[in-house]
Amino acid sequence: MYKSVDDEIVGRLRDIVGDSNVSVADEDRETYSHDETTGLKYLPEVVVKATDTAQVAKILTLANEEKIPVTPRGGGTGLSGGAVPLFGGILLSLEKMDRILEIDTDNLMVTVQPGLITGNLQREVERHGLFYPPDPASLDSCSIGGNIAEGAGGPRAVKYGVTKDYVCGLEAVLPSGEVIRMGGKIVKNATGYNLMDLLIGSEGTLAVITEITFRLLLLPKLKVDLLVPFNDLDSAAATVSEIIRNRVVPTTIEFMEKEAIKASERFLGKQVPFDNAEAHLLIEVDGNRKEDVESEYETVGEICLDNGAADVLVADSSTSQERLWEARRAITEALEHMSPVIVKEDVVVPRSQIPALLKGIRETSERYSISIVNFGHAGDGNVHVNILKRDMPDEEWSSALPKALKGVFETAISLGGMLSGEHGIGIVKRDYLPLALDDPQIELMRGIKKTFDPNNILNPGKIFPYSG
Ligand code: LAC
Ligand code: ZN
Repeated sequence: MYKSVDDEIVGRLRDIVGDSNVSVADEDRETYSHDETTGLKYLPEVVVKATDTAQVAKILTLANEEKIPVTPRGGGTGLSGGAVPLFGGILLSLEKMDRILEIDTDNLMVTVQPGLITGNLQREVERHGLFYPPDPASLDSCSIGGNIAEGAGGPRAVKYGVTKDYVCGLEAVLPSGEVIRMGGKIVKNATGYNLMDLLIGSEGTLAVITEITFRLLLLPKLKVDLLVPFNDLDSAAATVSEIIRNRVVPTTIEFMEKEAIKASERFLGKQVPFDNAEAHLLIEVDGNRKEDVESEYETVGEICLDNGAADVLVADSSTSQERLWEARRAITEALEHMSPVIVKEDVVVPRSQIPALLKGIRETSERYSISIVNFGHAGDGNVHVNILKRDMPDEEWSSALPKALKGVFETAISLGGMLSGEHGIGIVKRDYLPLALDDPQIELMRGIKKTFDPNNILNPGKIFPYSG
């Protein structure tokens, strides 16, 4: 179906990006054969690193003419297989396009290249008193282009929303090699169909993003974190909904079950206070006036204690805050050390349904005698449901896993939720798409894919149920 990458193609790629940016070496193909999705690995035939938009355009033109699949890749930290080159072909890395092109303090906008590491963007704009809130846990290794492609979120979504809420302008290269520019340094735009939003979360299947303009906020002057242990899971879950119901919107309300905390402690070799509690909430509030921030965290603390919290620990120094967030951000990697075979999901439900979701997941775990550890962004309804094989015999795992996955997805959907809040569908969830979307929607999406990419060269095999 696709053409293989032969010496002639490799030569033409070398002509476009230079010798040092093309590799067919086994070790490079190996490095770029996977992202952070456990157990998923496909070797690309060639790894190509682009350094500007014109090169991306030439690579796509070549691939489109020759019918060679192209898999775009940022930091390679995805958790649904978005950057895995399922059909070999060209692995197009954007890692070298990592510059901040402009911080525009008149318009409170920043224009960047897609390979920029998200944490570097945050730190740079903060030096100007500005704020880019989306904070995926992988922020020190994920790239901003990948964040857009996958629709990334993060803990601060409770108050500040996700990546898409900050994108004002995009430059992208179509599979035909044509370059399109959408939006700009404008905060409003009602000019035709919103192609920009269509590309956000399209998982590299429609176009390759080559430049982004984000709007920025003013950096809040103060923040305080609360670590709140609970002796039972239900009280912790109920507290999440109770905080929102009380019309308090903290920056984050993270939920972590005991096993998630324990895994992180073992992985980092650092202890978390009250680590024997059944669950913790990690709540951040921010603002500019000390009295406002204090009153908000006191209200949150009272709601927690009224709902059964064992204690409320206040972290108001940046060192103590960083320690807590380090433990939180390490969880997803730490769980792999607990069980090398692990399936990481990220269903999302309306926020008030968090208690029902966690109850449904517990029932699924009991029904199939399978280990499930939950943590994540409960404050915005997005929970990372981790199904661990541990020492389950292979045969039992193969039979129980699909049932457990279906159980988790059906629970989320029955509560008004969706399959993914922030990791995307990629390869790992594509066959479950019909559980969440009806046929007319899937057909519309297939039609959009065909319009953008009639030869199906751009990140083929992602999102849509596999049809051979
Ligand atoms: C996190 C990643 C898994 O929130 O999304 O840690
Ligand atoms: Zn997350």
